[in-house]
Amino acid sequence: MAGKLAGNNSRQALGESSDQMVVTPFEVSAKEGEKIDYNKLIDKFGCQRIKESLIDRVESLTGRQPHVFLRRGVFFAHRDLDVILDAGAKFYLYTGRGPSSEALHLGHLIPFMFTKYLQEAFKVPLVIQLTDDEKFTWKNNLSVEETKRLARENAKDIIACGFDVTKTSFSRISTILEGNAFYENMVKIGRCLGYNKAKEMFGFSGDDYIAKLSVPLVQAAPSFASSFPQLFPGKGNLRCLIPCAVDQDSCFRMARDFAPPLGYRKPALIESSFFPALQGVHVKVSASDPDSAIYLTDTAKAIARKINKKAFSGGKDSEKEHIEFGANLEKDIPFKYLSFFLEDDIELEQIRKEYGEGPKLPGGEQRMMTGAVKKRVAQVLTQVVERHRRARADVTEELVDAFMAVRPLPTKSEAWEQVE
Ligand code: TYM
Ligand code: TRP
Repeated sequence: MAGKLAGNNSRQALGESSDQMVVTPFEVSAKEGEKIDYNKLIDKFGCQRIKESLIDRVESLTGRQPHVFLRRGVFFAHRDLDVILDAGAKFYLYTGRGPSSEALHLGHLIPFMFTKYLQEAFKVPLVIQLTDDEKFTWKNNLSVEETKRLARENAKDIIACGFDVTKTSFSRISTILEGNAFYENMVKIGRCLGYNKAKEMFGFSGDDYIAKLSVPLVQAAPSFASSFPQLFPGKGNLRCLIPCAVDQDSCFRMARDFAPPLGYRKPALIESSFFPALQGVHVKVSASDPDSAIYLTDTAKAIARKINKKAFSGGKDSEKEHIEFGANLEKDIPFKYLSFFLEDDIELEQIRKEYGEGPKLPGGEQRMMTGAVKKRVAQVLTQVVERHRRARADVTEELVDAFMAVRPLPTKSEAWEQVE
């Protein structure tokens, strides 16, 4: 990810321990060869596991089959999702992206695809934060102008996920602050000042640009509707639900902690596990290694090459052994990818059995070989990526402007009347 921030101290301050597994907004890693332990994360962070009964409630409230990511436990943790459901459809969605690169990878699509489903199913408004200032602050090689451009390019990928333009607004930090050159200069100046110098001058300690200190605050602010008087006029107390991967948790834990003293409602969260890197389940895909991820700009050929050459296989070393014992699906990246993106439950189950199931095959079924699974996953991902590319090609500059326009978002009829 974006590299280390203030070292272990800040991590501990945010509540993560210094053991081998690190999951913060700045870094995600587990011990080599080991998986991210999501159960441990739930304990450490203090969020709740999403139970079957909660998924059933979502189904009955929305009158449609829950999204694959919910049914299969990709979104596995929450905070106060039950509370927000109890309150009816009186909430807005908030999610975001730090525009650090030209192209998104498949992992980035997870929260956006899921958010699109939530918007459609609950018919609620959505705010998408583009933290272009964050990326300028973080990455020494990006200029303000370049991060603004990337924000707009990334917005096209996000729009291509199919959001409803009448209910969605982007909150691009540099746009909010347009006409406020003062803030932009603050960030620029902040990037020039090392922490040690600031320590001398102001009594800080550590080694960071002080501009970094504001970044979690910028990300936390949209958790409160009162931050957007233009989007939610007169509805400053509207509830907020935030879909994201679990790496973003610490930021919103802070927002929740500060909500009561500020007189605000705590935002609710729905959090996903990570789409793993090609190299294995112990790492989250890294934007800095092009061969660790499949990008939305990859060709069918590139996808097939990456899957064949780079994807960690849980298949056994020899054909004989593989036929006898089956693959280790816990570690098999092609199968993991299928469990995210192959929508057909029946086919997935069939592959699970034929490729993975232990020594004795029931009913004398064929053993599926690694090559066949890789071929199938390359097909499925190519389909996802090509569908996305077609949708993105339809996103005009005018449409981006329409999404970016700052205007009151429509609120849902009756249910919304009661929200003050
Ligand atoms: P960013 O741009 O790193 O990531 C955007 C969103 O994608 C999720 N994500 C993943 N999900 C599953 N598997 C992966 N491998 C994977 N990689 C990234 C992230 O959790 C995130 O939800 N600072 C944030 C931008 C931001 C934001 C927000 C995110 C601003 N406000 C509100 C979520 C909610 C960032 O740089 O995300
Ligand atoms: N997720 C961001 C990244 O990958 C890291 C980040 C930077 C962040 N600032 C943050 C996350 C503030 C939460 C809050 O680069």
